[in-house]
Amino acid sequence: MIVVLLGPPGAGKGTQAQKIEKTQGLVQLSTGDMLRAAVTEGSKVGKKAKDFMEAGKLVTDEIVVKIIENRIQKVDCKNGFLLDGFPRTLTQAKALDNMLNQKSLKLNAVVEMQVDDEALVDRIIGRYTCTACNQGYHGENLKPKVDGVCDNCGSTNFKRRVDDNRETVSSRLEAYHSQTAPLLPYYKEQGVLRVVNGMVDIGDVSVQINDVLSSLN
Ligand code: AP5
Ligand code: MG
Ligand code: ZN
Repeated sequence: MIVVLLGPPGAGKGTQAQKIEKTQGLVQLSTGDMLRAAVTEGSKVGKKAKDFMEAGKLVTDEIVVKIIENRIQKVDCKNGFLLDGFPRTLTQAKALDNMLNQKSLKLNAVVEMQVDDEALVDRIIGRYTCTACNQGYHGENLKPKVDGVCDNCGSTNFKRRVDDNRETVSSRLEAYHSQTAPLLPYYKEQGVLRVVNGMVDIGDVSVQINDVLSSLN
């Protein structure tokens, strides 16, 4: 099964992808996570991507298309995958269609997570993740069971993203509305668009996404 999670920054794509990866065994492919790893490594891609990311602008299509093209060749993608944060432009969407066509695969669903812009800012400002395993948390909405200890791996080290500040969030939202939202009519036309209400609790969003996924089986 090949599914895209589409939604604005802070919509909950990563949160839901991590849950689905655990429950359904579909591997999460987050271009944001891959780019952040490249920046930390200081690789050529990381050096090219860093300034765009810190400014809340999209990295070039060429870079992210290449990353995904390489990533989906890996053996863990054999039974399907969940795209989190890709595609984000029409050029990327068309490149994905081509990649899948070449492998005789098809996109099963694009799940749009709808969240109001005002709620997104609070979600992003409150977000932090485990340094060791990347499990996501939120200061109010999703705390570890034991204060200061990661539920997933027991680590006590957490980090915040450099682009999670008010100024950068508004550029990221602007990029979403101008460059990514045009994918909605594109996928509607293809008959794969499914909409979920992302304004409810994390568990209630999962229920809606699981309903979509089970309707595809
Ligand atoms: P990326 O890492 O993809 O960031 P993003 O799209 O801005 O999305 P976020 O990761 O901020 O949000 P999310 O939807 O994953 O929310 P989360 O689950 O964490 O991209 C970063 C940058 O990389 C881009 O700006 C760009 O520069 C570059 N990039 C990446 N992909 C690219 C591409 N394809 N093309 C070009 N450039 C690219 O949730 C947020 C918080 O809210 C968490 O704390 C969570 O606990 C909480 N929360 C989640 N759900 C709920 C809920 N239902 N109720 C209450 N709280 C909730
Ligand atoms: Mg994310
Ligand atoms: Zn952890």
